[in-house]
Amino acid sequence: MTRKINWQQILIQCKNNIQNQITPFLKKLNKPQPDLGIGAGGDPIKQIDLAAENAVVNTLKKHKISFTLISEESGIKACGKTPDEHFVTVDPIDGTTNLMRGIPFYATSIAVSTKPRLDTVHKALVADLHHGVTYMAQKGEGAYRNSQKITPSKTVSLEEAVIGMDLNTYKVQKIIPQITSLVKKTKHIRHLGANALELCYVADGTTDAFIDIRGKLRSTDMAAAYLIIQEAKAKITTPRGKPLRIRLHPKQKVSFIAAANPKIQKTILNMIRL
Ligand code: IPD
Ligand code: CA
Repeated sequence: MTRKINWQQILIQCKNNIQNQITPFLKKLNKPQPDLGIGAGGDPIKQIDLAAENAVVNTLKKHKISFTLISEESGIKACGKTPDEHFVTVDPIDGTTNLMRGIPFYATSIAVSTKPRLDTVHKALVADLHHGVTYMAQKGEGAYRNSQKITPSKTVSLEEAVIGMDLNTYKVQKIIPQITSLVKKTKHIRHLGANALELCYVADGTTDAFIDIRGKLRSTDMAAAYLIIQEAKAKITTPRGKPLRIRLHPKQKVSFIAAANPKIQKTILNMIRL
């Protein structure tokens, strides 16, 4: 018989342990960083990323949970006797560049699923580690920001909207023609540098949409925020308006349009040229 696991409590413990483990590193960010090679997601590994990942793994092991880790840093790792029981997709630190530069906007992201597939994520946590704000969701139970149920904004007009757009790519010349008309009509454009958290901002009504059509974002960065968006009853689809059906893997890339409500989502989809 499978044991009932209190994921809510365990994910909060993971987040608290991450916070404790990274604190010493936050004090020496301007010191030279050791070369730890390239992580499974393709970026150089930082000590602070590994410390955060270890905090998650050790917390789950302490609770004697068997699981498959899907991490941006260590890749795929089987832990325990029945690793197919749970899949835990982790971006230990989302927004590492912000953190290293002292920009106070970075998060940790943990998603629990029954299969290595985005649509099977059933429990999620994204925590803003600088401001101490935690977003959580459980399938069918809504989404929460520090225990308060969240809902997305009702903004439908681009003339009033705040829209996040990730243009962080060397191939930006490919994306610009696709989004020019949207940019021209949107009142405020933002990119804050931690996509998991920026998706949570759509879920709780802080912003009205967030789009990333670069084909560059890893599934590990958005697996948890995907459930938070869904449970807040905001929208997230492919840039063509189709459901996101992707595997959870450090190398799996994803593009999406996330929006607060169906009206603004439709407007944005109609304006993106693919
Ligand atoms: C990054 C952030 C950033 C996005 C990058 C991601 P990381 O995550 O989400 O906003 O533009 O593509 O890689 O690398 O700090 O986990
Ligand atoms: Ca990361």
